[in-house]
Amino acid sequence: MIRPLRPQEAPALAEALAHMDPWRRLGFSDDGLAGYLSRDDANLLRVVYEEEGRPVGVLCLRSPWLRGPYVELLAVVPDHQGQGIGSALLAWAAGQNGGNLWVCVSAFNTRGRDFYGRNGFVEKAELNDLISVGEDEILMRKRLR
Ligand SMILES: CC(C)(COP(=O)(O)OP(=O)(O)OC[C@H]1O[C@@H](n2cnc3c(N)ncnc32)[C@H](O)[C@@H]1OP(=O)(O)O)[C@@H](O)C(=O)NCCC(=O)NCCS
Repeated sequence: MIRPLRPQEAPALAEALAHMDPWRRLGFSDDGLAGYLSRDDANLLRVVYEEEGRPVGVLCLRSPWLRGPYVELLAVVPDHQGQGIGSALLAWAAGQNGGNLWVCVSAFNTRGRDFYGRNGFVEKAELNDLISVGEDEILMRKRLR
């Protein structure tokens, strides 16, 4: 079930993300991620994929962005990866308004790049040193119409 993220769920999710790549390698902290997941931001839709009463996936969608929304964060906890949850969250995002869906993926995240490619995204630009010096991000676009 996909439903809005509850603010009280942010700290545990943030801790899980801070221990996972790409966030671990890029130097994100538990506190920084918890703040991002819970602060007031009217243009950021935050949803979770719930299984057996607990969030096992999270997607943050910035909308409006660029003629369609931007997937700012997408993660599935390690013991639930590879079961279609990430794809289901992306399908939810594609069902929101807009002609394009955008995402940035770290260049080193080859599995993530493959995942988005198989979900219809095309690599459009390389953004050098965007989050961390020495690490490139790849901007990807999916046309929705
Ligand atoms: C990338 C991610 C969101 C995909 O979600 P998911 O629920 O595991 O993906 P699905 O089950 O829908 O699809 C599985 C595919 O994703 C790819 N994938 C990417 N990272 C993966 C991982 N760590 N574990 C398993 N599959 C992964 C695989 O290629 C897999 O394809 P396959 O089944 O043909 O091997 C999730 O694996 C994840 O959170 N990874 C770590 C964080 C990340 O890279 N986020 C996206 C970039 S910001």
